[in-house]
Amino acid sequence: MKGKDLLSISDLSGEDIHWLISDAIDMKAKGWFSLLGGKTLVIMFEKPSLRTRVSFELAMHQLGGQTIYLTPGEVRLGERESVSDVARVLSRYVDAIAARTFSHQTLETLARYSSVPVINALSDLEHPCQALADLLTIYEKKGELQGLTLAFVGDGNNVAHSILLAASLMGMNLRIASPPGYTVQDKILHTAKGYASDIGAEILCTEEPQLAVTGADVVYTDVWASMGQEAEAQQRRQVFAGYQVNRELLSLAKEDAILMHPLPAHRGEEVAEGILDSPRSVVFDQAENRLHLQKALLAGILGGLEIPLAGYG
Ligand code: CP
Ligand code: NVA
Repeated sequence: MKGKDLLSISDLSGEDIHWLISDAIDMKAKGWFSLLGGKTLVIMFEKPSLRTRVSFELAMHQLGGQTIYLTPGEVRLGERESVSDVARVLSRYVDAIAARTFSHQTLETLARYSSVPVINALSDLEHPCQALADLLTIYEKKGELQGLTLAFVGDGNNVAHSILLAASLMGMNLRIASPPGYTVQDKILHTAKGYASDIGAEILCTEEPQLAVTGADVVYTDVWASMGQEAEAQQRRQVFAGYQVNRELLSLAKEDAILMHPLPAHRGEEVAEGILDSPRSVVFDQAENRLHLQKALLAGILGGLEIPLAGYG
C-alpha cells in the first residue's frame, strides 16, 4: 500500500482491507505510534467537513506527523490555479494530499500530476475512508463480515458506491433500495458484482426498501441531497419520501441489526426522529472509527506499515 493513491475502494484488494481493519484495531487499542515523524499531510477541501477534517488532523498528529489544512475556497482548484499545477506544487512540499472535491475528475487529475499519494476524502463518486471505517465498525459489532447482509436504503450516491464496493470485496451480501433515477452507477455495480461473484456473495438492487431490509444484519442510509445538490433538496424530499428509515422499516431487519449513517444526518428525513439515538444506532462508533481507520491507512500509505497487529480475522 506504501506510496499508493486511494481514490476508490477499487484501488484496494480484499487483503488490503483485512490489513487495514487489523491495524486499525491495534491503533484503537494503543493510541499513539511514532510512525510518521517528519511527514506532512495537506488536507485540501472544496466542501465543508467535521469528521473527515478532524479525524485526518488527529490521525497525523497521533502518528507523529503534521497537517496543513486548506479551507474550501482558499485554493479554488481549477479557478485560481489549474488542478495539475496545484498537484505539482503541493508535491514539492508535502508527503500526501487528502482532498475533498465536488468532481471525482478533479481528484483523478490531482493524482495524475501529483508525485505524492492522493487520498479521496469524499468526491461526488466515492467516500472510501467512510466505507473502510464502516467495515471496521461492522466487524467490531458483529465479529465477522463475510456472509452478513447489508441493506442500503436511499440515494445511490458516493457513500452507497463505496460501501457497495467495500462490502462486496469482503464477501458481504448487499441489498440496495433506491427510487428509479437515483440508483447506484452501472459501472460501480458491475465492479461490485465481479467482487461478489468471486467470493460467493450476492447483490440485489430493488425499488422496495422493505425487500432490502427484511432479514438484514445492517441497515445503512445517507442524506437524500448530498453536498452540492442543495438546489434539488425539495424535489428529492418528494422522490425519497417512501425511503425513510423508521421503526416500522427497521422492524423487518434482524432483531440484532445495527443502523448506520455516515453523518451529518437530517433527522426527520432519511431517518425518523429519535432513531439515530436508539440502541441499534452505531453512528457515533462509525464517526470515531474514522480516526482509527485513517491512522492505519496513513501508516500504510506513508510508512509502509502492513503488519497483522491484532487478533483480527
Ligand atoms: N461522514 C463525513 O464524511 O462527515 P464530514 O462531512 O463531516 O467530514
Ligand atoms: N453523501 C453525503 C455524505 C456526506 C458525508 C455528501 O456527499 O454530502
